Amino acid sequence: MKAIRVGLLGLGTVGSGVVKIIQDHQDKLMHQIGCPVLIQKVLVSNPDKKRDVDVAREVFTTEVYDVIRDPEVDVIIEVMGGIEETKQYLIDALNEKKHVITANKDLMALYGTELLHVAKENSCDLYYEASVAGGIPILRTLEEGLASDRITKMMGIVNGTTNFILTKMNVDKSAYEDVLKEAQDLGFAEADPTADVEGLDAARKMAILARLGFSMNVDLEDVKVKGISDISDEDINFSKRFGYTMKLIGIAQRDGEKVEVSVQPTLLPDHHPLSSVNNEFNAVYVYGSAVGETMFYGPGAGSLPTATAVVSDLVAVMKNMRLGVNGSGFIAPQFEKKIKSSSEIFAQQFLRIHVRDQVGAFSRITSIFSERGISFEKILQLPVKGHDELAEIVIITHQTSEEDFSNILQKLNDLDVVVQVKSTYRVEGNGLS
Ligand code: NAP
Ligand code: HSE
Repeated sequence: MKAIRVGLLGLGTVGSGVVKIIQDHQDKLMHQIGCPVLIQKVLVSNPDKKRDVDVAREVFTTEVYDVIRDPEVDVIIEVMGGIEETKQYLIDALNEKKHVITANKDLMALYGTELLHVAKENSCDLYYEASVAGGIPILRTLEEGLASDRITKMMGIVNGTTNFILTKMNVDKSAYEDVLKEAQDLGFAEADPTADVEGLDAARKMAILARLGFSMNVDLEDVKVKGISDISDEDINFSKRFGYTMKLIGIAQRDGEKVEVSVQPTLLPDHHPLSSVNNEFNAVYVYGSAVGETMFYGPGAGSLPTATAVVSDLVAVMKNMRLGVNGSGFIAPQFEKKIKSSSEIFAQQFLRIHVRDQVGAFSRITSIFSERGISFEKILQLPVKGHDELAEIVIITHQTSEEDFSNILQKLNDLDVVVQVKSTYRVEGNGLS
């Protein structure tokens, strides 16, 4: 069988890993797909840059359409990043009847459904396993391994940078800014880490997961997002004292026909399996009504881990080519999109309040909760260091709707004895699923 020729858009962290795996695992690939894989063309912005992989100088180009329109290229692997221009390149590649593989979560979160339609119209494959949780094969797991089940909940630690920062703050008591710098030096934070620390990177991944897991056209704007930049040492210390671990958690939950998707700092019981996912590692906890609890763990970024996902997509494309079934992978969503309102989203809540230490303050606060029928699971009152006139009250509520909780916060802020509501966080996983 004739060789499969790959056009690579990008030869950075992930692109170099792709070349290395194709070169190092050529025998295995040959055995699986029955033909050699050749790198036909590579798009870079600077062909003179020193590379840590061995690629012939003559395959480099700085002109994207040299790759996309090369008649010899069968498969385009997009590992250059970018959104609007890159989207057009991939549409043009699909219209040229090239199969496309991408690691680009930013692009797939925004335009995944549109691109999958273009792929189907052209009878081409479009695979994007590397776009969520790097080396963990979670998209294929949802599409194939759990295809027969009804997924009702997914909880993910899907951003390595924020998990690294929170682990170091939790375990080593390191300062936020120092750990962020360390994550950048280690190479898993984005060059501009705003998307990491403000939760947008995780939100993009959760939109992709929710779309697949719930077979519903969930958009990025349907994902509620809160990042980790406001988390204080006190929040982490009080969480620990109550037996919880603070993590940035993506939650996608389905109840009946409606779904909620969010990314937010969340308190998980120390015994929850996601609590022990540390440093830059990722994990996705999936609950299916038939299978029950499952959890998938591994590296969420990095050159070779991410490249394994890309090259596995390449194997899938080549198997489809051999069977003549390219373009049949995309199945239109089964369900109409229905997103829960804040009165339909229920969770336990943690809150930390500074109040004036005076008679009756505590009972005025608790009465605001009891008026709404919300009781406490845990409560703690203690003095605020260096401020004798203040007391700190820390509460974990039982289940409440987001709407009720937001009304309670409003009422607390209006109370003269409340100096400040310092922080609030969702609490998850007490009953596990
Ligand atoms: P990277 O190291 O910055 O590499 C980008 C590559 O694309 C470089 O080779 C660069 O050329 C080339 N490039 C970018 N814009 C170009 C343009 N306009 N024209 C020509 N060449 C251009 O990026 P990366 O970390 O490999 O990430 C690639 C993609 O994978 C992104 O979508 C990212 O979100 C996704 N991803 C990354 C990881 C990870 O661990 N890094 C994990 C999962 C997903 P030069 O080499 O000449 O500069
Ligand atoms: N910046 C991302 C992270 C890279 O920290 O998880 C992988 O998508």
